[in-house]
Amino acid sequence: MVILGANGGIGKATVEQALQRGHAVVAVVRNPESLTLRHPNLVVRKADVMMPETLRGLFSPGDVVISAIGKNSTRETTLYSAGDRHILEAMVDGGASRLFVISASGIDVNPTHSWLIRWATKNILQRILRQMYADLVRMESIVKASAVDWTIMRPPQLTNGGVTGKYRYAIGKFLDNGTRISRADVANFMLDTINNPDLFRNTVEVAY
Ligand SMILES: NC(=O)c1ccc[n+]([C@@H]2O[C@H](COP(=O)([O-])OP(=O)(O)OC[C@H]3O[C@@H](n4cnc5c(N)ncnc54)[C@H](OP(=O)(O)O)[C@@H]3O)[C@@H](O)[C@H]2O)c1
Repeated sequence: MVILGANGGIGKATVEQALQRGHAVVAVVRNPESLTLRHPNLVVRKADVMMPETLRGLFSPGDVVISAIGKNSTRETTLYSAGDRHILEAMVDGGASRLFVISASGIDVNPTHSWLIRWATKNILQRILRQMYADLVRMESIVKASAVDWTIMRPPQLTNGGVTGKYRYAIGKFLDNGTRISRADVANFMLDTINNPDLFRNTVEVAY
């Protein structure tokens, strides 16, 4: 399993839980010193998704690839669209075919939400995060046009809570009134559903 953004919130939680489950993990980070975790089944590799040459040789047939890259910024970005495109290209080169990427539920206004949350999503969240969301929309199109078995995770607000395993999810549609999920539970969900064909080539909303 290859996890990119492995020192971030979702990425690190995924690395830790994958190792606990017995997976062999390649953790990909820009700065290897930032990942202090050591484990016999863990290999740390240095790469920057914006520099496609650094991704060469990372992926092999049978690898599950989890892209948990992100940038906490309101500035214009191509991190998600270019970064995940570079990952897809390197996956195809290496023969890997299973991919999870992280998007955000807020890129759409969920009609099951209360009037107030719909208003706040449209007028506050989508305004403040318009640059990030625009690039997440571009990223989703690129991933959907690819030939791999992708799953686009669309979490709502992320928290630093632990693993509960007690969440709801909706495949290819809006989840009723989901507003929060921990990064650890996003990781738990992805690891639980690696081989679930219902999720192949689908978006998923997951929340408590
Ligand atoms: N915050 C929320 O409530 C929320 C809600 C819904 C969706 N999301 C989405 O979920 C994403 C992930 O959340 P998170 O909390 O896990 O994010 P995070 O803690 O900020 O982690 C992002 C990871 O991406 C890595 N990264 C950034 N640029 C990179 C590059 N050029 N090459 C390789 N790695 C790079 C970072 O590494 P460095 O340490 O090297 O920078 C870090 O490991 C967010 O960015 C957002 O798009 C967030």
